[in-house]
Amino acid sequence: MKTTITFAILSSVLVASLAQAEDAKKSKDDDNPRYTRRAIHDRNGIGKFYLGREIAHVMGYQGIPWLERPEREKEEGLKKMVESFKLKPGMVVADIGAGSGVITLRMAKQVGAKGKIIAVDVQQQMLDALNRKLKRQEIKNVELVKGTQKSPKLKPNSVDLIIMVDVYHEFEFPYEMTIEMAKSLKPGGRICFVEYRMEDPAVPIKLVHKMSEKQVKKEALQKEFHLKFKETVDVLPWQHMVFFERKKF
Ligand SMILES: C[S@@+](CC[C@H](N)C(=O)[O-])C[C@H]1O[C@@H](n2cnc3c(N)ncnc32)[C@H](O)[C@@H]1O
Repeated sequence: MKTTITFAILSSVLVASLAQAEDAKKSKDDDNPRYTRRAIHDRNGIGKFYLGREIAHVMGYQGIPWLERPEREKEEGLKKMVESFKLKPGMVVADIGAGSGVITLRMAKQVGAKGKIIAVDVQQQMLDALNRKLKRQEIKNVELVKGTQKSPKLKPNSVDLIIMVDVYHEFEFPYEMTIEMAKSLKPGGRICFVEYRMEDPAVPIKLVHKMSEKQVKKEALQKEFHLKFKETVDVLPWQHMVFFERKKF
């Protein structure tokens, strides 16, 4: 029953973002040969494929109640997730696709006043929702950045850790985003893909919103990103956390 409700909510959220995805389909600057289009595809995807994977619709800001649902703690093990990032005071962490800030807010305290969280999103409504919480809770160490579909607009060599929680699979331009994210990492800095496990049919999430560990590695380990695999942390009920590190030259 609960699973059916989860599916129903996710479906309505995805339908709400359909117009946005249709715009993405028409984009003229989509001439990177790494991407292909297929007329027959999953109705939850945008019909654009990257290294064999169909890209999912972007979750619209109408999905905020789903991101903030109380049962998310249990379903996604948020406390364990944040512990697994191994945050330390003073760290600079970029939360790409931060949404309404569920994960950003949990991380802000842990990096302390000398550290900061850079919360990046392409939807102004998401950043506005997060900003209201920052003001209410008087949190000062979070910077908000409006990214684009191709760039998170981060400074080169400036970030200790990048996290993407339930986000990467919906990047319209994953190749361009990864090039830019990797450049923004300090040498030895880490990037973490938190993705619903494709390997586990019991995870009640639509297929285009899931990724296997193998697929994450296939996409992240292209030589131009200069990333190396560090570890996969498998302690969450629905997602795996796949960490890579920027190579030190
Ligand atoms: C499913 S929500 C996850 C939000 C948040 N990470 C969380 O777990 O609560 C995905 C978010 O990624 C954002 N997003 C999608 N593509 C993006 C991109 N290229 N750059 C930055 N944010 C992006 C969407 O706008 C949306 O807010």
